[in-house]
Amino acid sequence: MTAPEPASPAPARRVLITAGPTREHWDAVRFLSSAATGRLGIEIAKAAAEAGLEAVLVLGPTHLADPASPRISVHRVVSARDMLAACEAEWPRCHALVATAAVADFRPAEREDGKRTKATAGDAIPLAPNPDILATLAASKGDRHVIGFALQADDDIGASLAKARGKLVRKNADAIVLDSPAAMGAATADFRVLTADGTVREYLATSKPDLAHELVRLLQQR
Ligand code: CTP
Repeated sequence: MTAPEPASPAPARRVLITAGPTREHWDAVRFLSSAATGRLGIEIAKAAAEAGLEAVLVLGPTHLADPASPRISVHRVVSARDMLAACEAEWPRCHALVATAAVADFRPAEREDGKRTKATAGDAIPLAPNPDILATLAASKGDRHVIGFALQADDDIGASLAKARGKLVRKNADAIVLDSPAAMGAATADFRVLTADGTVREYLATSKPDLAHELVRLLQQR
């Protein structure tokens, strides 16, 4: 009689995280982008690794360094379409998604290889819509947990909450983190986490590492 094979340890749960801006090139040197740095997504990857999860971080162009942990793998990408391709390759092996990236909603319809000159530039840049990465991945989520963000710039918190809830439903997320442009580059900010059951949890004047740990706890409750 042969001894039974030793049971292999259960694979760690893997969290896919999008982070940072995307760059949508118009020519070789110019692009549309945003002021996002990816710091929050990096903090979520670190918090996930500290909690014993594996993190796959798909990160747009940023001056910030890759987080160093054997539990975190980083894919550096440039455009929204690059980000979607990297995410689609990873998504089948992941158990949850946290979409923090400030994805450019549009890209220049045509990209020139060299540098456009004043003579050839014209006075308008025709744009084409980019894919919605969160909505695309969440459409095939099954029972996987999906957390998105909603960056709202309204003066009225009620209006921002309503728009964030609209994004939660439209994009098929389980939770949406409402934040505002003031969070970009800030050490602390006001965040509100809306869940599909109608609950709103407030994290006011909260640091990004603290919010990251809260979101990882939320993921682990499933
Ligand atoms: N998102 C995405 N792909 C896009 C646009 C947004 O994955 N092309 C994700 C963001 O990472 C975030 C959520 O969708 O998790 C909401 O992003 P936000 O910028 O707040 O909203 P938009 O969908 O871009 O809508 P609007 O610009 O009209 O507010």
